[in-house]
Amino acid sequence: MEEKRKLLIETKDLTKKFNDVVAVNKVSIKINRGEILGLIGENGSGKSTISSMISAIHTVTSGEMFLDGKKYTPSSRMDAIDNGITMIVQEAGTIDGLTVAENIFLGDEKRFIKRGIVDGRKMEEEAKKALLSIGIEDIEPSATAAMLSFEERKLVEVAKAVYYDPELFIVDETTTALSQHGREILYKLIHKLRDDNKAVLLISHDLQELMDNCDVLTVLRDGNLVETISKDEFNEDRIKKSMVGREIKGDYYRSDYDGKCDGKVIVRAENLESDTLCDVSFDLKEGQILGIAGLSGSGMHELGRAIFGLEKLKKGRVTTFISDKESEIKSVKDALSNNIGYISKDRDKEALVLPASIKDNLVLANLSKMKFFITKKTEKEFAQKIIDDLNIKCSSMNQAVGELSGGNKQKVSFGKWIGNDSKIIIMDSPTRGVDIGVKTTMYQLITELKKQGYAILLISEEMQELIGMSDEILIMKDGAISGRAQRSAELGEQDIISYMI
Ligand SMILES: Nc1ncnc2c1ncn2[C@@H]1O[C@H](COP(=O)(O)OP(=O)(O)OP(=O)(O)O)[C@@H](O)[C@H]1O
Ligand SMILES: [Mg+2]
Repeated sequence: MEEKRKLLIETKDLTKKFNDVVAVNKVSIKINRGEILGLIGENGSGKSTISSMISAIHTVTSGEMFLDGKKYTPSSRMDAIDNGITMIVQEAGTIDGLTVAENIFLGDEKRFIKRGIVDGRKMEEEAKKALLSIGIEDIEPSATAAMLSFEERKLVEVAKAVYYDPELFIVDETTTALSQHGREILYKLIHKLRDDNKAVLLISHDLQELMDNCDVLTVLRDGNLVETISKDEFNEDRIKKSMVGREIKGDYYRSDYDGKCDGKVIVRAENLESDTLCDVSFDLKEGQILGIAGLSGSGMHELGRAIFGLEKLKKGRVTTFISDKESEIKSVKDALSNNIGYISKDRDKEALVLPASIKDNLVLANLSKMKFFITKKTEKEFAQKIIDDLNIKCSSMNQAVGELSGGNKQKVSFGKWIGNDSKIIIMDSPTRGVDIGVKTTMYQLITELKKQGYAILLISEEMQELIGMSDEILIMKDGAISGRAQRSAELGEQDIISYMI
């Protein structure tokens, strides 16, 4: 590269310990202006911890940071923002009880204080500007965050981060929380920042996304920096190998192209109508993986919620036929007593009990299975098996789920429905934030469940995942089913996208 780059941030031997666990071990990285630096590494390799030290969410155990050549020791998140560093965190970064405007200006309310009180209207006007600046028109600044969808809350964070005009913009595993539309907003933003000679730190498990967007990639393994690779040396196999320390195969989806299912119908959705859904009907059969595709606002996530009894229906019914017994699902209680499992996209809010241990989270959904002999031993064996199968990185099964890295939380959320009595599992974005090694295991497990006769509703933003795993794909648009695609070797993304828009 001919153009002169200017070093914005440098870390020297940056280290973070959580009790005895060394999460980040003497990592030295350089982030240049005019560059998008990608961070990649397996779940628990230290990506979020490094970025959290730079943005002052975590304190530094040892090592140093330099900003524009001067020693940088941020005292608080707001201090980091004042130094030009903003971050979209991997987990929920908004507070439910506050409005959109209050979330955007959290910690910075002082700028709206007039005669001792916060001028709420002024704040909302400014929030509106922040949202519009990234092209978001349909989120109201006065709405409480709890009312928003997971994606909308992420976009509020994006608006906040950009509002403060960052020199360094850190994006931690955010794209998988967004739909195509949200992703495009984000890509446009990071490229604009790069063009404006600012810097971006992008964390993702999507290798293609990193190779498409980054100028340099830094690989981490077990808290250590493995190598830094520049764009002209990007190569998928090399990066994967560098991440996991061994060769991994590229094909991890189902290898068969037989989408026919002769299983009995086990879930029937008839004419579902809600605030979002519009006359949705389908059958899900035993041994079937039924994919659901759609853009944001298409109702795909709400459909999953409806089958689990979470979405308020105005019309229609969801019926299950387990062991030939017909039952209507009207609530989560009905869903649970009919052994329906649900992996929510919003894992922190809907799927996990964060303060509870890994073991308790895993066992929670399996109490019925173990109820005749809930001995400590069965629980432990069960939890240990899932921890091993999914390679959950933890200090012990008694560690609180809230302390795990994002991808490892996702594994717990996935694992709790596996090996369970549920014969029906709704999976909304099941591999969100999970590294490629474990994705392979998850896809194998899903295929195995199918063979055992489980019925799986696979809701996903990842087109390749849907095409690679589903027997049939229902495509949603404006709350209704707009198309169907059968499994075949020729099925391509474009065949599905054409029904989405
Ligand atoms: N608050 C905490 N308490 C104890 N251990 C923690 C805490 N936060 C992170 N860790 C540990 O630090 C290590 C690194 O975690 P980190 O979140 O940085 O991983 P990551 O690379 O971002 O992974 P992922 O891809 O899953 O998001 C993990 O082993 C994790 O369990
Ligand atoms: Mg992380």
